[in-house]
Amino acid sequence: MAFNIAIDGPAGAGKSTIAKRVAKELSYIYVDTGAMYRAMALYFLRKGIAPEDEGAVSAACDEITVTISSEHGEQQVFLNGENVNSFIRTEEIGKVTSTVSAYGKVRQKLTQLQREMAASTDLIMDGRDIGTCVLPQAQVKIYLTASVETRGKRRFLELQEKGAVCELEQICKDIRLRDEQDMNREISPLRQAEDAVLIDSSFMGIEEVVNEILKLVRETSDKKIQEKSVKGL
Ligand code: DC
Repeated sequence: MAFNIAIDGPAGAGKSTIAKRVAKELSYIYVDTGAMYRAMALYFLRKGIAPEDEGAVSAACDEITVTISSEHGEQQVFLNGENVNSFIRTEEIGKVTSTVSAYGKVRQKLTQLQREMAASTDLIMDGRDIGTCVLPQAQVKIYLTASVETRGKRRFLELQEKGAVCELEQICKDIRLRDEQDMNREISPLRQAEDAVLIDSSFMGIEEVVNEILKLVRETSDKKIQEKSVKGL
């Protein structure tokens, strides 16, 4: 059975940075499920389908194939065969994604694919519903969060570094809106799974969070080995 690590949490909590580092340490595959939802959102945007039109979005789902691969340790996302990595990281796509990812047809499509990947591969998968819905059997579950102010400041610095003009207040407002949408949708809302370990990274550095997760993984694998030896397996 493959070893699966699920990391969920709100936008800007640092999930992808942390998950990438943990994956590298363990030589696991890293799956960024947000990127898969973003690829679908890009399709709707390009086709001129209004994100609020659930009927049209759902009908278009059958025209879409999303696949991923890994190149030099970086996940590549393909939308109907086209590598769309460089188009999916904009704020506009983020907003559209948050809206369309609430629809059952969109979630169904990606959840199935994500489960298939996890069944046969040791991996760390990040998203909003990995521990609660996609991989409820994951051996390690983390709920990674941070205050809106911390997440906003991180995003602000990231954008400034890229030379973008932005306002901290507006970024925090957008984050609050994303949280609101992701946490209050009917299907697979963002929430901490009962058996997930909560990590609040507001006052923690990347290394500290990575080490805490690696410790949890080690403890869980040791426990599994002990259980097997007790059962004489
Ligand atoms: O992690 P991210 O910012 O790339 O995610 C973009 C949006 O996708 C986010 O607002 C919610 C949605 N999403 C989701 O609904 N379920 C997931 N497993 C991953 C992302």
